[in-house]
Amino acid sequence: MPLVSSKSLLDSAFRENYALGAFNANNLEYVQGIVEGARAEASPVIIQASPGAIAYLGIDYIAAIVKVAAESVPIPVVLHLDHGKDLDIVAECVKKGFTSVMFDGSAYDFEENVRLTREAVDIAHRKGVPCEGELGKVPSSDRNWTREELEKLMTSPEEAREFVSRTGVDSLAVSVGSVHQMKEKAAELDIDRIRAIRSQVHVPLVLHGSSGVSDESLARAVKAGICKVNIATLLNMAFSRAVKDTFAREPEEIDPRKILGPARDAVASVVAERIRLLGSSRKAG
Ligand code: G3H
Ligand code: ZN
Repeated sequence: MPLVSSKSLLDSAFRENYALGAFNANNLEYVQGIVEGARAEASPVIIQASPGAIAYLGIDYIAAIVKVAAESVPIPVVLHLDHGKDLDIVAECVKKGFTSVMFDGSAYDFEENVRLTREAVDIAHRKGVPCEGELGKVPSSDRNWTREELEKLMTSPEEAREFVSRTGVDSLAVSVGSVHQMKEKAAELDIDRIRAIRSQVHVPLVLHGSSGVSDESLARAVKAGICKVNIATLLNMAFSRAVKDTFAREPEEIDPRKILGPARDAVASVVAERIRLLGSSRKAG
């Protein structure tokens, strides 16, 4: 079916208390693997492109590939801009047919984050595209973070309420203990904080840095109110491992289809497994 907006999909997840997987794509095989994993589970799915992936692939290529992928399956597929750090990329993605965007103003202080996010929401809404904002900071795993340090970066429920009402965001990314790019599922989320934010904020909540969260914590976070779960590193690890395994078995292999085909299958299998954990199987409608 044609690409769809994330708005009604996330609102359904919010009402029915499950989460959608939002999977980062870096090339054609990722897009095909993500769509195949979601199709196998009859689940809606969000395919997201970071500014880095857009720079690597070219915005027209990623928009075209995901559009074709969506049209090839009977499940709802969203094309989402992940971590848009300036208003220009938000405007460009909206213009190129993305059906959902994120403006990430988490590097700014509260007032500047509100001001810029409000502008991003206006740009997106003028074209009927929903916009995700972020409050609090989800750091990268470039070093070890202590619990005390992470707590200082976490989202305040009261500020979240003010942020959502002043910006008009359609969904809110929160910092609740996850860290981007972790290669082990070792992070435990602050579930009480998710519940507290959920009680103050009436838009779907988004979790970033989900690859490093333990399965049990992730399942509890969804029950507590997380409706969109961003996953990148798990796919990168599965893709790379499959390529390495192929070369370990066949060091002289040069056929790209035999190198990248198993990596595509590995992406599909991680996507299907995450979707089962998040509870969106058979929600394709
Ligand atoms: O925005 C993308 C995500 O937050 C991905 O995080 O690489 O830790 O899964 P991850
Ligand atoms: Zn993220």
